[in-house]
Amino acid sequence: MEEKVKLLETEALKELVKIEDLKTLADFKVKYIGKQGQFTALLRGMKEIPAEDRPKFGAIINSVRERLENIIEETEEKLNLKELERKLTEEKIDITEPAKNTERGQIHPLNKVMNKLMEACVEMGFTVVDGPEIETDYYNFEALNIPKDHPARDMQDSFYITQNLIMRSQTSAMQIRAMEAMKPPIKIVSPGRTYRADSDATHSPVFHQLEGLVVDENISMIDLKALLTKLLKMLFGENTQIRFRPSFFPFTEPSVEVDATCPMCGGKGCPRCKGSGFMELLGAGMVNPKVLENCGIDSKKYSGLAFGFGVDRFAITEYKVPSIRMMFENDIKFLSQIK
Ligand code: PHE
Repeated sequence: MEEKVKLLETEALKELVKIEDLKTLADFKVKYIGKQGQFTALLRGMKEIPAEDRPKFGAIINSVRERLENIIEETEEKLNLKELERKLTEEKIDITEPAKNTERGQIHPLNKVMNKLMEACVEMGFTVVDGPEIETDYYNFEALNIPKDHPARDMQDSFYITQNLIMRSQTSAMQIRAMEAMKPPIKIVSPGRTYRADSDATHSPVFHQLEGLVVDENISMIDLKALLTKLLKMLFGENTQIRFRPSFFPFTEPSVEVDATCPMCGGKGCPRCKGSGFMELLGAGMVNPKVLENCGIDSKKYSGLAFGFGVDRFAITEYKVPSIRMMFENDIKFLSQIK
């Protein structure tokens, strides 16, 4: 019996030194010391030897088993370490290697222009306020001195949701909301999307405006001229020429349209500015006293100026883009060219 144990031990040890991976080691464990293993079988075979010899043999088998277990444990540790080292070298990530095909997002050109405009206005002391894109007929037209069935409504082909609700055709609706909510002095700008049933190279059914409103005592046309001249020079540079042309809006009196030197040709005249050397950028004027009164502001005491920036026009001019619609097509190839 003792012979048998010794033989088995030598055999096992021989096998064990050759083991180089965890899977073989696991099989080895099953083969020798598992439930059906050979050493376990030896223990079971004890009933065949005389009772007085049993403790002696039991001790021998157990000590061999214990030794084997220790060696197995050591080998297991060694193999685990080896496996970890293998993983660390094989699965090493080179963080200095440039990544393939990374696409970086960027701010949309329209938002860039809008931010630039707003920053300039904030620098001049304006507060930015936000308004709804779905407006009532009252805020979009009626309170702005554009009564129902009045021909002035033809200036803006609107999208109606119901008879009383429309997609706002101008951010001027926010003038009314601001004047209802605040007391003079008021100095706000309101940016956002606007909608009209219009579509060609320079018109898109959805476009963007930035509305400005100042209401206080003694506001005059001189303030309007000075403010817009300063703002446009901040945006386009000191050498920009600014031109005020008489115009008409029902909610301002008098009204003007404001042009700046065409940034495409620098004023020489090009197809974009139709040879005039100027680019139309804003509608503006002195707030019609009727509009002030509609909002409960005493038009004898207070006066106001207002302006509406065409943000998309500004953007396609700034980035020399041939069609306004390209701004809305979300073509990454086009957008990624605009830095
Ligand atoms: N709301 C006018 C438009 O959309 C622009 C404007 C704004 C004119 C403010 C005067 C004052 O055409």
